[in-house]
Amino acid sequence: MTSIDANPYKSHIFVAARGLATKMLVMPGLALAFLSWVEPARAGDSYRWLQATTRGWQARAITQTDACPSAEIDGRPVAMTPRARPGEGFPIVICAVDVPKGAKSVAIDEAPLPPPPARVDKILVFGDTGCRLKSIFLQDCNSIRAWPFRLTADMAAEFAPDLVIHVGDYHYRESACPPGMKGCAGSPHGDNWETWKADFFDPGAALLRAAPWAMVRGNHEICKRAGKGWTRALSPLPPAEDEKCAEREPAYRVDIDDPTLFILDTTEAEERTVVGEQAAFLRTQLAVAKNVPGPVWYAFHKPIFSLFRSRLGETLGVNETLAAAAHDMLPASVQAILSGHLHAFEAIGFRDDRPAQFVVGVGGTAMDPHIPANFDGATIGEATVEHGRGIAAKFGFAIFERGDGEWIVTNYDAHAEPLLRCHLRGRKLDCE
Ligand SMILES: [Fe+2]
Repeated sequence: MTSIDANPYKSHIFVAARGLATKMLVMPGLALAFLSWVEPARAGDSYRWLQATTRGWQARAITQTDACPSAEIDGRPVAMTPRARPGEGFPIVICAVDVPKGAKSVAIDEAPLPPPPARVDKILVFGDTGCRLKSIFLQDCNSIRAWPFRLTADMAAEFAPDLVIHVGDYHYRESACPPGMKGCAGSPHGDNWETWKADFFDPGAALLRAAPWAMVRGNHEICKRAGKGWTRALSPLPPAEDEKCAEREPAYRVDIDDPTLFILDTTEAEERTVVGEQAAFLRTQLAVAKNVPGPVWYAFHKPIFSLFRSRLGETLGVNETLAAAAHDMLPASVQAILSGHLHAFEAIGFRDDRPAQFVVGVGGTAMDPHIPANFDGATIGEATVEHGRGIAAKFGFAIFERGDGEWIVTNYDAHAEPLLRCHLRGRKLDCE
């Protein structure tokens, strides 16, 4: 299968055809989707999407020309305004316009975008999508098998979700591909547009256009790592006058009705020890739903409790700072927490009265080893697992579908094959 390893950045048409062929192989019904197939963006194309922000829904666009594109909401022209102008490493303009929740149609440059969802019955969750290039940790960014984010994003788009939640870590190419390494040869690196384009916007283009997004900030998007690109393009905050990156972003509510969804910034939460000052900030974040009736879902990057084994077989997975902050602080209305950071899929229901925890760090970044398939009864910090399931080494995404008094949660691989199905009723989890 050498064709799988072609450089996705050299031949978009080839990759689109290959992706489609793959889909038709694994999902014959998708052959019909050919007519609605959205080609990945080409160099010079603009990028556009609808995302949740601290001030409601917003359509955004990236353009390599000087002017913002034209836009229409419900057939009426509206002006997009620049939220970031060209700057060092970013020869692009990022434009934005607020979209009222009740809008029925949105178009940018006459191309439609999905409007804000009137009802959310199908939520797609994934994260940790970029291609890892950091010192000796080198992923083959040129291989769709080794780094399949384009495939997972294209497959995800075919599910036509009402909402996409990216649980953080978009940007992974921090150091140069060493000479002679064919797998990543030619890759850009660093916090600049070329890297953001290669790591996120190009491979994610079809999914960006297919559904509204809620973007969780990952620890890769902190100010000293990829904070410039985050602040310009994806941050939910209005642009600061001095264009400065915010070290901490406040919790905010995504403008959907059910479930009530809050996005939190847990990027700095120190895992191994309790950092008191961080915990104080996180307590204020975790209390955001205190007076909000349930069901509430929280989406934040670093999970409070996940589970993996060390090389010596030791059970790890508690984030000490988050656990200290969450102790007696998580509102009873919180039903579920959606996270990434661990590069695996995990679904965890607890014996004690806690929100279920889902970890979906499977979008494309190199996988974490030592994830048990079943960890019923395990103790993670102060929490005891009732049902714990893990899927190791399978790229893909999770779909949360509204059922009869429950949410049906399915973890799919990158070819849209279901791997695990769980049922969430209240805070209780059952997996098939
Ligand atoms: Fe992370």
